[in-house]
Amino acid sequence: MSDDDPNVKDDAKPESSGVSRRDFLRISGISITLPLVADPRMVMAAGQEVAIHGPGKVPMEFSVNGKKLKANLEPRVTLLDALRDQFELTGAKRVCDRGECGACTVLLDSKPAYSCSVLAIEAQGKSITTVESLMQGGKLHPVQQAFVDNDASQCGFCTPGFVVACKAFLDRHPHPTPEDLRHGLSGNLCRCGTYDGIRKAVAQIAQKGA
Ligand code: FES
Ligand code: FES
Repeated sequence: MSDDDPNVKDDAKPESSGVSRRDFLRISGISITLPLVADPRMVMAAGQEVAIHGPGKVPMEFSVNGKKLKANLEPRVTLLDALRDQFELTGAKRVCDRGECGACTVLLDSKPAYSCSVLAIEAQGKSITTVESLMQGGKLHPVQQAFVDNDASQCGFCTPGFVVACKAFLDRHPHPTPEDLRHGLSGNLCRCGTYDGIRKAVAQIAQKGA
């Protein structure tokens, strides 16, 4: 689904980096042609002063599920790859890897984001929440429990992203209308077609309160 879809409400769309593809390529091109000197360097790009990091690994620090995590990563590494490959948080799934399906959804400062479309370096300084943090003390989060109760999963590839998106949606819309729900979860796709179960799961929580 395109970010330009006029049928999707703003709060249904996971965050993008705020840097256009054109800007990103321009900035990336600059970083490749610069000599290797101590980071960060500043250059003018697209009319703005931009810090240049890399192309080699640079130290980064993240706040993930309330913990401080550090890694040396190339600036081109996505948040999804950092979570999965560096920190062994494999709940967020790579499916389309291009910001269309929502299987990689995490929360950045409580807002849903496609982690495949956010550079790890940009996620520094934000509070990152992954599906792994939802289960507490051996007890499923109410959204997870509602997915089980309503048979809202088949192959399961989309499920972690949907659970995170549903949690964020219900935090903002505790008593959604069916229309709210259609718009609010339109950034996530399920190839197995479990939408009916997912809608029932959300309705169950809206009735009980999460
Ligand atoms: S894997 Fe990120 S949106 Fe599909
Ligand atoms: S349960 Fe298979 S893609 Fe959603």
